Amino acid sequence: MSAPNSDYDPVEVTPLHADEVERMRDEALSAIAASSDLESLRAARLAHAGDKSPLALANREIGALPPQAKAEAGRRVGQARGAVNAALAQREVELTAERDARILVEETVDVTLPWDRAPLGARHPLTTLQERISDVFVAMGYEVAEGPEVEAEWLNFDALNIPPDHPSRTMQDTFWVESADSGVVLRTQTSSVQIRTMLERKPPIYIVCPGRTFRTDELDATHSPVFHQVEGLVVDEGITLAHLKGTLDAFATAMFGDGIVTRLRPSYFPFTEPSAEVDLECFVCRGASVGDPENPCRTCSSEGWIEWGGCGVVNPRVLVACGIDPERYSGFAFGIGIERTLMFRHNVVDMHDIVEGDVRFTLPFGTEV
Ligand code: DAH
Repeated sequence: MSAPNSDYDPVEVTPLHADEVERMRDEALSAIAASSDLESLRAARLAHAGDKSPLALANREIGALPPQAKAEAGRRVGQARGAVNAALAQREVELTAERDARILVEETVDVTLPWDRAPLGARHPLTTLQERISDVFVAMGYEVAEGPEVEAEWLNFDALNIPPDHPSRTMQDTFWVESADSGVVLRTQTSSVQIRTMLERKPPIYIVCPGRTFRTDELDATHSPVFHQVEGLVVDEGITLAHLKGTLDAFATAMFGDGIVTRLRPSYFPFTEPSAEVDLECFVCRGASVGDPENPCRTCSSEGWIEWGGCGVVNPRVLVACGIDPERYSGFAFGIGIERTLMFRHNVVDMHDIVEGDVRFTLPFGTEV
């Protein structure tokens, strides 16, 4: 404790002069008023109300005053500091409100904006088309059959009346598993499922088998080494070519619209006799462009027909190979390319679009699951 200092003159203690205290207070108040945000207010608080601020330093001087001067100086400094603290509190309230209002505007969240814009995945149109095709046949009483994609050579060729030296083997360039004499292939056609079905069960047989098939073709606008077929097989008593024609017409109508029919063009497949190529009536011009050079049709090149697949009456040799009596039963079979069907139905002109898996291609088909 310092000793009484009776000869101490408060007038000499400059920071405690009334003018000086007023000046410090006013300086503080104008700094506070000039603070435009909470950050600058914090700086003003430190400078004018902090431990090292002029008013705090002046306050410390009071202790050194003689008792008679202390009260006066204390009140003066106390009032000034009170005014500064009140101004700080008041400005803090204002600036906090301002900041909150600004944040509300700047960080506005429009809760009415759609939140589910992450695009949904969609199944590939080839998949959904395969199911649609199956549905068409299921509605006619058929069952859907399946077989493996890695297939025994015997089921893919021999049992279909295609012996090793048969020229038609070279028509279907084959992926062999391991080596060409392994006896195992990636199936070149879904026709192998005909054999599997006939070996497993007895007629009546009414099946369709959509599935993946493989041939050593280069990928181009109309070919892919991996493609899809739908195989149909009927074996029953009294089945004729007329049943095949009616079935294909019903299938064509379901795929391409009312009244679209098919045409059978004589051809050759070892497992059918007689055999035919199935042509589809052009679903764009319906034959109207034939012989009318004024109105050409790009879809069928003004032929009126588009090639769709192969078909025929099941060769009795195939029935015999599967233990079915050809005297009692007969049947028909067909194999249609699913990529071709998709391309015709949806005007897809390039196979690349089908195989590349780009969602920009698949999305317009819808997000059917
Ligand atoms: N499997 C044949 C092919 O891929 C298509 C085919 C033709 C299937 C005639 C059949 C048929 O069932 O009877 O070229």
